[in-house]
Amino acid sequence: MHAHGYTGHIDPAHQGHYVSHPEGHPVVIDQVTARQILDSRGYPTVAVALHLEDGTTVEASAPAGASTGVFEAVELRDDGPSYSGRSVHKAVTSVTDEISPALVGKHWRTIRDLDTAMRELDGTDNLARLGANAVVAVSIAASRAFAHAAEVPLHVWLARVTDSAERMPVPHFNVLNGGAHAANPLEFQEFMIAPVGAVDEAAAVEAGAEIYHALAARVKARFHTAGLGDEGGFAPDIASPEDAMDLLVQAIQDAGYTPGVDEVAIAIDPAANGFYEREGQYKIAGRLIGRDQLVDYYVKLLDQYPLRSIEDGFAEDDHAGWKLLFDAVGDRTQLVGDDLYVTDMRRIADGARNHYSNAALIKPNQIGTVSATLDAIETARRLGMASMVSHRSGETTDTFIADLVVGTGVGQIKTGAPARGERVAKYNRLLEIADENPGLPYGLAFASAEEFAAIDN
Ligand code: PGA
Ligand code: ZN
Repeated sequence: MHAHGYTGHIDPAHQGHYVSHPEGHPVVIDQVTARQILDSRGYPTVAVALHLEDGTTVEASAPAGASTGVFEAVELRDDGPSYSGRSVHKAVTSVTDEISPALVGKHWRTIRDLDTAMRELDGTDNLARLGANAVVAVSIAASRAFAHAAEVPLHVWLARVTDSAERMPVPHFNVLNGGAHAANPLEFQEFMIAPVGAVDEAAAVEAGAEIYHALAARVKARFHTAGLGDEGGFAPDIASPEDAMDLLVQAIQDAGYTPGVDEVAIAIDPAANGFYEREGQYKIAGRLIGRDQLVDYYVKLLDQYPLRSIEDGFAEDDHAGWKLLFDAVGDRTQLVGDDLYVTDMRRIADGARNHYSNAALIKPNQIGTVSATLDAIETARRLGMASMVSHRSGETTDTFIADLVVGTGVGQIKTGAPARGERVAKYNRLLEIADENPGLPYGLAFASAEEFAAIDN
């Protein structure tokens, strides 16, 4: 089995046995309240507050995707006249009328126990009855309650329960948007810049912001607009991935940085579900192409650009396509499964066994609980795969994922452009953690792209 340089030591005896703190106080909840708030797209989402016995209140809110995978845990929406069917009053009621009575007054010692109680209360495989938007918000707030009970910051608590070495992540700034996140004709959804070679988190954020501003100047000059996509990246009227990547390389240079897989690298999320037609056929720029041609196209982009990571290069159920791409470039490029795995440890294990990819995207609301999210990270790590923690295209100002990526030490995060409050909140939380913990290492948790040798397990 390949460890890929991970510093996070996983003791098999610890698997699935998350403790709040060996000597810590248990979490006792007096009441769970919930409200409907707006996400960054102006659609409703769920915010919760856990009122603890000691008088403390901890809060959390749920994000929402647009290019969601069909295997994701189910968001509960009202389907009525309000907000075009998207109001979440039913999910709010799940929290106040069902989850709250089930959680109050008990002595919770582990997040797993609490998550399991919600899953059993729900009674479905995909949290469809209570709503993953209700459950994930409570689970995240509960994690804050456990950290509070253990009297440590959230990221430290997450490191303890996963037995991980903490690490500051390489941020992947999504600066050009297409696909389901923008109105332009660009099929690929996300074009990101990753300051892999930065000396620390602050330098990485500075590089990201400076390159974003250099890109803004180019986009304004050429397109006379600087309209944004859902994640804060620009969404100019370009149609070809090469055009987008050329713009990125130029912006990196304009800002005085060096494009390169070990310097400022590019990462893409084509989100191929969005341009999958049928039976191994993908539609790009009006043309239908087959799996082999799509692999050839990715190889061409890899040869031409400082591209370090491709997420969802094939559709969520096109396993044959995933295998072809892995065989072609899995030894030199990070291939990330998002819709393919939906943060589900069983799907990730399946992907490792079948050589679909060498990395998994980690989104807590895809699987619905914090403990299942930690299981996904642990499974990927155990099977020699990398993880990348991720926001959703619809976000709130909740910063849980920043603590999650540091505490689990996975070394990489994507949380949009270095602009817009809901994205910046996460980068600012990373800067805060970095300031408070100057000894934490910065960077990817594996040594080099070459380490992505064939998964051997
Ligand atoms: P989503 O997009 O949040 O709209 O699903 C993000 C992604 O595909 O990574
Ligand atoms: Zn994705």
